[in-house]
Amino acid sequence: MKIAIDGTAASGKGTLARRLAAELGLPYLDTGLIYRSLAFRLIEDGGDLSDEAAAAGAARALSAEDCSDRPALRTEAVGRAASSVSAFPQVREALLAFQRDFAARPGGAVLDGRDIGTVVLPDADVKFFVTASLRERARRRAGDLGLSGDKDIAAVGEELRARDERDMARTHAPMKAADDAYVIDTTRLSPAEVLRTACEIVDGVSGAN
Ligand code: DC
Repeated sequence: MKIAIDGTAASGKGTLARRLAAELGLPYLDTGLIYRSLAFRLIEDGGDLSDEAAAAGAARALSAEDCSDRPALRTEAVGRAASSVSAFPQVREALLAFQRDFAARPGGAVLDGRDIGTVVLPDADVKFFVTASLRERARRRAGDLGLSGDKDIAAVGEELRARDERDMARTHAPMKAADDAYVIDTTRLSPAEVLRTACEIVDGVSGAN
């Protein structure tokens, strides 16, 4: 079964994707991590983030080890840079085959990102679009960063808002819910409730097939 999970920044889509993959015994690919790894590599190498050809070259050279999760990739600065380089069509093109190959494994996979249901896996068996209020997303992301003051939460919220806006506004593979995606608003739900909601939908779809 192929499951596509897209959504806004810090909406809980990664948490859902990880838990759903574990629940269903499927491999999981966090595609945001690929764009973050690319941005991190370009920053480290002192590259020009506005050079599309150079970014696409670095994207083609990216290895699985480069994409292993670590705190340095999780900063909002790297998220912002990832959002910026991810707008380049040549970069997205360079990363497409890897994502599709991952999902083509026997048994399927869970992928999360911004364009999974619309571009990477338009034939996914189940698609979700996960979101939550900006205030709640800011509160959660600030918490992850060890921040709790109103000013800090507002600043994090502004970063998330700007990133979502850019991800939605780009012409190539913008963030959007696929027409056939189930939208889950996690504002008032715990991670366990989000998982239960998604599992019920997956069960319903599997039962219908
Ligand atoms: O999900 P994330 O916050 O780790 O993603 C970081 C950035 O990468 C996001 O702001 C836009 C980009 N991205 C993308 O364009 N397409 C994806 N499938 C995943 C992430």
